[in-house]
Amino acid sequence: MVHDPDLHGDVVSLGFIRDVRVDGPAVSFELRLTTPACPARESLTEACRVAVAALPGVGSVDVRVTARTVGGLAGVDPADALGGVKHLVAVASGKGGVGKSTVAVNLAWALQAAGARVGLVDADVHGPSLQHLTGAGVPTEQREGRSLPPEVDGVAVVSMAMFVPRAQPALLRGPRVSAVVQQLLTSFAWGERDYLLVDCPPGTGDVHLTLAQVAPLTGVVLVTTPQETALLDVRKAVTMYRQLDVPILGVVETMAGFLCPSCDVLHPIFGEGGGQALADELGVPLLARVPLDPAVAAGGERARPVVVGEPDAASARALAHAAGRLAALLSVRAASPGEALDSFRLVWRRG
Ligand SMILES: Nc1ncnc2c1ncn2[C@@H]1O[C@H](COP(=O)(O)OP(=O)(O)OP(=O)(O)O)[C@@H](O)[C@H]1O
Ligand SMILES: [Mg+2]
Repeated sequence: MVHDPDLHGDVVSLGFIRDVRVDGPAVSFELRLTTPACPARESLTEACRVAVAALPGVGSVDVRVTARTVGGLAGVDPADALGGVKHLVAVASGKGGVGKSTVAVNLAWALQAAGARVGLVDADVHGPSLQHLTGAGVPTEQREGRSLPPEVDGVAVVSMAMFVPRAQPALLRGPRVSAVVQQLLTSFAWGERDYLLVDCPPGTGDVHLTLAQVAPLTGVVLVTTPQETALLDVRKAVTMYRQLDVPILGVVETMAGFLCPSCDVLHPIFGEGGGQALADELGVPLLARVPLDPAVAAGGERARPVVVGEPDAASARALAHAAGRLAALLSVRAASPGEALDSFRLVWRRG
């Protein structure tokens, strides 16, 4: 019996095994995962292969791995702009300059590299940075009255900067900000997207309120640096999202120490343990600790996110790990909100 480590069921009962064919000693079947970015992909595939190969009379085993992301946004009509989006996730912090945009971009690229269909929205009204970090162009094509989002490496990227002239963002006030945020989400033909990530501005202002109140957010990933001063601002964001009933999905700690390239020792420049403390306080998983790494910043400057530019760097591995954990967590939430999620958190936090 092969068990999914996150969904806590055997792969047959969970409906993962499909299209079983037996041709003499040759057995083939499809293993359909709940997300292409499943962190257990390889281990599950191998476990299924081994389990079937051990059956009497089986000569060869061919496992075809596919994925169909489970999910869907609450209350969204399939004909709406967001109708094909499975999960809408804000990346926020409360604090400025902690690495939100960098984390959002790398999560997006890691999920896309794993085979998911991903979109990325730059909702930073005062300092949009995603076009710079990704090299995205401007929308040029329309489909059925909506703009097609420009794509980079298959990731659809739209930015506040496409709507707001560069010199003007500071002039935007409350209702106009809300209108622009809504426009960002609803005036694009997103198509089928497993994950649509929203890079939030710092603070807890109008953009966050609009997102929480009118956008069908699946939840929010909080980004923090390890030190207590950063956590003060992050806690304000936590209070706001809780008041607005937006689930907090997990925490990414970034700039978590400097990994010295000459001695390979992690120097905790900004202190230690802040991300874990916050995650524990909130009862959510710490998705990853991303070290301070010049390659991360260089990836931003070159518009080549480190997860694809230097995938073997410790920072890139941490970011890819965060993406896998996030995808698994979202699958669990979509498959069985409530009890399963609680047990997932417990197992995960122990692990
Ligand atoms: N792990 C890291 N290692 C090295 N540099 C990093 C890391 N994370 C982010 N940076 C760098 O820190 C700077 C700020 O990052 P980023 O723009 O992602 O932060 P932000 O929280 O989105 O900022 P803002 O609040 O202005 O939107 C960037 O130059 C980025 O390249
Ligand atoms: Mg930013």
